[in-house]
Amino acid sequence: MIEQIESIRSEALVAIRGAASSSELEALRVRFLGRKARLPLLLREVRMLSDAERGKVGRAANEARAQIEAEIEARAHALRVSELDERLARERDDLTLPGDPPLAVGAAHVISALTRELEDIFIGLGYSVLEGPEIETVHYNFDALNHSPTHPARDESDTFYIDAETHGGEGARLLLRTHTSPMQIRAMEAHPPPLFVVIPGRVYRPDSDATHTPQFHQLEGLAVGEGITLADLKGTLLAFARAVFGSEREVRLRPHFFPFTEPSVEVDVSCFACSGRGDLADGSRCALCKGEGWLEVLGAGEVDPNVFAAVPDTAANTPGYDPERVQGFAWGMGIERIAMLRYGIPDLRLYFENDVRFLEQLR
Ligand code: DAH
Repeated sequence: MIEQIESIRSEALVAIRGAASSSELEALRVRFLGRKARLPLLLREVRMLSDAERGKVGRAANEARAQIEAEIEARAHALRVSELDERLARERDDLTLPGDPPLAVGAAHVISALTRELEDIFIGLGYSVLEGPEIETVHYNFDALNHSPTHPARDESDTFYIDAETHGGEGARLLLRTHTSPMQIRAMEAHPPPLFVVIPGRVYRPDSDATHTPQFHQLEGLAVGEGITLADLKGTLLAFARAVFGSEREVRLRPHFFPFTEPSVEVDVSCFACSGRGDLADGSRCALCKGEGWLEVLGAGEVDPNVFAAVPDTAANTPGYDPERVQGFAWGMGIERIAMLRYGIPDLRLYFENDVRFLEQLR
């Protein structure tokens, strides 16, 4: 019987080591260790042997079974590893395949895109970009900008006041800035001359119709130094007009009034739809400039000496803004208005409704 056990053992070990797959190995487990296999049957017969034989044969059969089991386990493990390797090699993702294209790509809103474009134009002319608070005080929004105490823009109906009553005097009263001009004062408080800055940002006024929204955007400009004149203002704004509306454009200055500039002007750009002629090739009146040949684009002027005087001399802005020594010019443009003219947008409210059918036309 011992010989029989030995031959089963060696037959089993050879077969197990040669098993080429997990399923083949499973078949061998049944064949050598299953209920009807020879070795278990043999073990059952051990009981009937003589006392002397039983111990030897039983031990040999048990050892053979244990070794076959261990060999099956070892082989099963080796097969699992190699089968996994093989599957990974077969199914590995191909990283060189093109990816799935995104379903929809966003784009900057027309006002954001134009703001960046304007910033780039003035950065190209040597300006820096600043931003400032949308909640302002009466001091920065009106007083320091030389508005008379009775200026109509101060009315409750023309400005969103935040404070119902004043704390620490009328100048400290809080409001939503009605223009970006208060940043002229803040910029001069923080930086000594010469100063060349543009300030884009949101502004607020209680108006609402096709050409007015309670919130809109402006870009303020301020240039201060020694010997800066109205001619510099005109040259600067001509460069802007040509960059935005085309290299053929001209600019025209018309006298106007702003509290914080003297003299003040309104700046027109020659109409790009009719090349400034006022009528089209077929003789009809140009609809964009209404036959004028000019489009009003912004307000500007030479900084009023009272505005320089409102900037306190501090360590930050030494040597300070002495109106006897420095001059400068400033301007303020409505960004929605520039976009309206450039793209022929009929209603200001379209900018804020964010209907993608509108926005997609301008990306
Ligand atoms: N702040 C003016 C407004 O909101 C625009 C403006 C006009 C700004 C003339 C200026 C300027 O800096 O010089 O209508």
